[in-house]
Amino acid sequence: MTAHNDLDTTSAQELILIEEAARALDSRRDAGLDGLVGGLDSIIITTETDHLVPATYELLQYTGLGCTEAFFDTDSQSYVLGLPGSASLIVRSRGTGPNPFSSANKARLTGSLPDTRLETFVFTTPDIQEYVAVQKARGVEFLTPAPRESDYFSFIQTAPSPYTGNSVGIIEWLDEMRTYAPAGSTGLSPDISKPAYRHLNNIEQLDHAATRVKAQDRTAAILEFISLTNYHYDFGVHVKSQNSITSVARREKEDFAMVFTSGITPYTSDEASGPTERFIKDFGTRVHHMAFRTEKIEETVAALKKVGMAFLLELVGSEDEGLMQIFSEPSPHTLLVNEYIHRFGNFDGFFTRSNVEKLTEATVRQ
Ligand SMILES: [Fe+2]
Repeated sequence: MTAHNDLDTTSAQELILIEEAARALDSRRDAGLDGLVGGLDSIIITTETDHLVPATYELLQYTGLGCTEAFFDTDSQSYVLGLPGSASLIVRSRGTGPNPFSSANKARLTGSLPDTRLETFVFTTPDIQEYVAVQKARGVEFLTPAPRESDYFSFIQTAPSPYTGNSVGIIEWLDEMRTYAPAGSTGLSPDISKPAYRHLNNIEQLDHAATRVKAQDRTAAILEFISLTNYHYDFGVHVKSQNSITSVARREKEDFAMVFTSGITPYTSDEASGPTERFIKDFGTRVHHMAFRTEKIEETVAALKKVGMAFLLELVGSEDEGLMQIFSEPSPHTLLVNEYIHRFGNFDGFFTRSNVEKLTEATVRQ
């Protein structure tokens, strides 16, 4: 097998996706959606109630994010973690009402964490009423009939995607003051403090997140996402030896990137199908990792190990290749892996040829 064949980006399947993605962009423009969705504002992660505090503490302990807000809303509690220049994380426990993500959460190994999921990617809009009107006319389903209003924002989110199980949220900020507390909620003073480790200053903004989707749903998942946002399909890299395709959607070059990982061929058996399809069998379609830009990555990873973080493999890549990166073990509280990624120069890929196999293969061990 030649290197070219192993990293084949010109398959027939790929050409169809490129054509359909171009059509989705035309349709979006014709519907008046261009300019109606901005960059990533925040990500909503739901945990089981008894995992909320440990999940939040873990993110404070292992990322550069700080707790900016906490509130109690009916019977759910939320912590907001932020960092200038980064999308925020809203970590919450779900109330007792029905969970629209229930069926997406169900898989072979998720029985003890039925409500745990990175649920929603929230993007900004300058005009939520217009966005909702246009998307409803295009058949998009939302979880509420109309946006939820507070004094500070207006928010709505789509029903979970049949392809990814994720939801797209849309927020219009109405005030300079940025608070995520919904109308009627009670603000709390954050009771979880961030450890004062110097190495956490090296961990910066969210760079990308990677969602694992089934081989047969790859095209539909990407087309749906670009139809809901102002992102476009950028490129896909096929790694035949791991039965894996990494597909990237972007808005602008420096923006948070949305990555979809899928098999090349659908699941048949654990042995034959590779780590991506196997992960879906065990955990369902869901976000596999959130990646954080990290400076001084070697000393930062060494320091993270000292305070207890476990990793799926050693650091891979090098300055010459433009990238160094590593995967943590998945969190027992959120099921999410943290990726730490150091980009050298203008490297804007998500792995290098020499490390993609090691990275993908390492995820078998989770
Ligand atoms: Fe990644």
